[in-house]
Amino acid sequence: MLKTLFKRKPSSETISLEAQNIPRHVAIIMDGNGRWAKQRGLPRFMGHRAGADVLKQIVLGADEIGIKALTVYGFSTENWKRPEQEVSLLMELIKEYLQKNISHMHEHNVRIRFIGYIQGLSQELQDIIADAESLTKNNTGLTLQLAINYGGRDEIVRTMRIMAQSVVDGTLTIDDITEDYVTSHLFTKEFGDVDLLIRPSRDYRISNFLLWQLAYAEFWFTDLHWPDFTKETLLEAVAAYQHRERRFGGLQEE
Ligand code: FPP
Repeated sequence: MLKTLFKRKPSSETISLEAQNIPRHVAIIMDGNGRWAKQRGLPRFMGHRAGADVLKQIVLGADEIGIKALTVYGFSTENWKRPEQEVSLLMELIKEYLQKNISHMHEHNVRIRFIGYIQGLSQELQDIIADAESLTKNNTGLTLQLAINYGGRDEIVRTMRIMAQSVVDGTLTIDDITEDYVTSHLFTKEFGDVDLLIRPSRDYRISNFLLWQLAYAEFWFTDLHWPDFTKETLLEAVAAYQHRERRFGGLQEE
């Protein structure tokens, strides 16, 4: 069944999506905020602010078309290397984003979860995060997973340490450690594998994002910088995904 979801402006060409083939779990590397700002002669921070505004729209757009989980890279374990001022402005922006938008997202039945080493953030931010998760925990619409202080390798190492400790304690055997077991013990345990990864702004790398979960994801790139990303761009990405043939290492079905 084809569901027409969006009219492309100004050509009024229609993007049609197959309702049964919407990616369940979409991940986005929100890249290019700095370049977007630079092109306009603005401070980098203005790019991040514009990026945060875009995220609001994309969350609602993703929910509208039936995506179940949207995982976005807000701050990586490597982003601490940025100048102190940029780091603290980004932390402020994340706080502000949550404080300003949480009730709106709650009204839209969006559930918010955080992935990453949250204990490494300020106590104030940890409290805001706990409140956001608790307020929205029973919502049944899209789950927005915000990756903050997140690194794919860090996530795997933390999970390995927990498993090793369980083996030492005698509550886990080596044979219990399977791919499914690991998947269900990562930060992303609820949604597991990513179906579609979107990366704007002309960089074509994973940047330590969801290393395990991207094993069989489809990748989609756009030249747009994140602040120029729109709901229509999201629909284009999903439409492209629907034309991919996912074989998961097998062969094409006859
Ligand atoms: C990459 O752009 C972007 C980031 C490191 C931060 C992304 C943050 C936001 C969109 C702000 C809102 C976040 C949340 C979670 C509410 P860049 O700075 O690397 O851009 P550049 O490569 O052009 O310099």
